[in-house]
Amino acid sequence: MCPERNAVNVELALESLHFLRHWKFARTLATDPVVRGVSMDARPPTIWKHLCWMWRWSRWPWGKEYAAWVVVLGQPTKQLPRPAGIVRVGWTPELGAYEVHIALMRWARGQGIGTRVLSRIAEVAEQSGARPLVAQIKNGNPGSMRAFERAGFTPVWFSDGIAQLEYGAHGPRSWDGFRGMEN
Ligand SMILES: CC(C)(COP(=O)(O)OP(=O)(O)OC[C@H]1O[C@@H](n2cnc3c(N)ncnc32)[C@H](O)[C@@H]1OP(=O)(O)O)[C@@H](O)C(=O)NCCC(=O)NCCS
Repeated sequence: MCPERNAVNVELALESLHFLRHWKFARTLATDPVVRGVSMDARPPTIWKHLCWMWRWSRWPWGKEYAAWVVVLGQPTKQLPRPAGIVRVGWTPELGAYEVHIALMRWARGQGIGTRVLSRIAEVAEQSGARPLVAQIKNGNPGSMRAFERAGFTPVWFSDGIAQLEYGAHGPRSWDGFRGMEN
């Protein structure tokens, strides 16, 4: 598959994650080696684990504790809309915050799509009162750091190789942890 050349002009829609319609696509994304590498759990999910994951994330409409969407790219002149990734927001009690997760298919990366999706999610979250909105990024994922920052997230702490970013925050609460953080 070829990457879109000018993704900035590609139409982008967010479609609610649907258990039956999206489980295969979600599995392809979940088993992508890059996606596993940047996840907190690097092991590829078993089919059973994946189905439980799908059940959890496709069940609840926005306004409850979890919401997930498939990023769909439209190519007005050529092809049918095509799923390009998944973005999720869920209440994480340990963080006391709503946490955003995003993963795009390999062919969709590096074209500004992640930044656009995250900006849109942050807007929806803001309107829905889902605050604070945070993301955790493992060390060594500069593309993700940059996309979140471009969308208005700011690093607020860093610990054990993980940076936490918060939407609309005014800067790091502690600079110490950022020493040695490789961007
Ligand atoms: C992380 C991810 C969502 C970012 O989305 P994206 O569409 O690829 O990112 P963008 O194209 O919007 O890029 C945002 C910025 O990061 C930069 N960037 C992208 N990839 C980069 C890389 N590998 N190294 C350095 N900078 C990079 C871009 O140049 C851009 O900067 P600019 O606006 O100054 O030009 C996407 O790459 C992805 O799904 N990666 C795999 C899964 C993942 O890492 N998920 C996040 C886990 S926290």
